[in-house]
Amino acid sequence: MHTTQDCGTFQLGDRRVKRIGYGAMQLAGPGVFGPPRDPGAARAVLRAALEAGVDHIDTSDFYGPYVTNRLIREALHPYPSDLTIVTKIGARRDGQGAWLPAFSRPELIEAVHSNLRNLGLDVLDVVNLRSMFDVHGPAEGSLEEPLTVLAGLREQGLVRHIGLSNVTPAQISDAQKIVPIVCVQNQYNLVHRDDDALVDQLARQGIAYVPFFPLGGFTPLQSDALATVAARLVSTPEQVALAWLLQRSPNFLLIPGTSSVKHLHENLGAGRLVLPDEALAVLDRIGTQA
Ligand SMILES: NC(=O)c1ccc[n+]([C@@H]2O[C@H](COP(=O)([O-])OP(=O)(O)OC[C@H]3O[C@@H](n4cnc5c(N)ncnc54)[C@H](OP(=O)(O)O)[C@@H]3O)[C@@H](O)[C@H]2O)c1
Repeated sequence: MHTTQDCGTFQLGDRRVKRIGYGAMQLAGPGVFGPPRDPGAARAVLRAALEAGVDHIDTSDFYGPYVTNRLIREALHPYPSDLTIVTKIGARRDGQGAWLPAFSRPELIEAVHSNLRNLGLDVLDVVNLRSMFDVHGPAEGSLEEPLTVLAGLREQGLVRHIGLSNVTPAQISDAQKIVPIVCVQNQYNLVHRDDDALVDQLARQGIAYVPFFPLGGFTPLQSDALATVAARLVSTPEQVALAWLLQRSPNFLLIPGTSSVKHLHENLGAGRLVLPDEALAVLDRIGTQA
């Protein structure tokens, strides 16, 4: 089944991608650490995503670690020419699954080579540098050194495009003095809208904004107002939450994460949902009340 997305495309690096892609993080084991309970089912979700027309997958070697990248390779390699795989570097997991910074030059170089190996690629389409000054949210700190290393790997032809994740507006403008930035991946959803001004600024620059935790991540979005709007539109709350993001700004590229084929198809269905003005007004108030 190939799902036509009515919500259009947006430029990501040198390609236009559909505005709903797929985030692979949920395919790893509990806490996105270790292998999935059922690797066959995880590979089936990835194949179903491509069969449904997904052309943008978000991943990283630190999901698992190495688990989601290897599942992607096993399920999808050789990749279709129109598939854009976005990965990220800058963090690592310890033996207990804690998230730690991995910002040194040798760590960043090894991370790019490790992503290439595990994905089975000669060049990575897009690599996001994930800031780790504060693992839970953007915090100021210089990204000049790690970004210069990543720009060097781009000059070597190992990386096509560079993005940033978990970053502040100041870090983005400093980064743009070093290398073109094609996307920013920060936390944003119906109840978490700290980046409103940044979203609009990036839209004016033609840069993709890729909200992580679009459905709330490990804390699923829960709101009576959301449930009421969804019931009125004969949709699920998750579909409404995704459709709201799509209508928020044309530079949003969505990467909802799921380990379920059913949820995958529901999420792609959000691309056909048009929210009327009264629904938007109700949903907009959720963020201001949070
Ligand atoms: N840059 C960063 O620091 C960062 C951080 C976190 C995530 N990410 C990226 O962002 C992507 C999306 O984030 P995420 O996966 O953590 O969070 P999310 O997309 O907000 O939510 C995922 C959760 O929602 C559930 N879900 C998905 N679709 C659903 C549906 N239609 N109905 C009901 N439940 C549904 C999933 O469970 P089921 O598996 O049961 O569907 C899972 O528990 C990740 O895959 C990853 O690629 C990046």
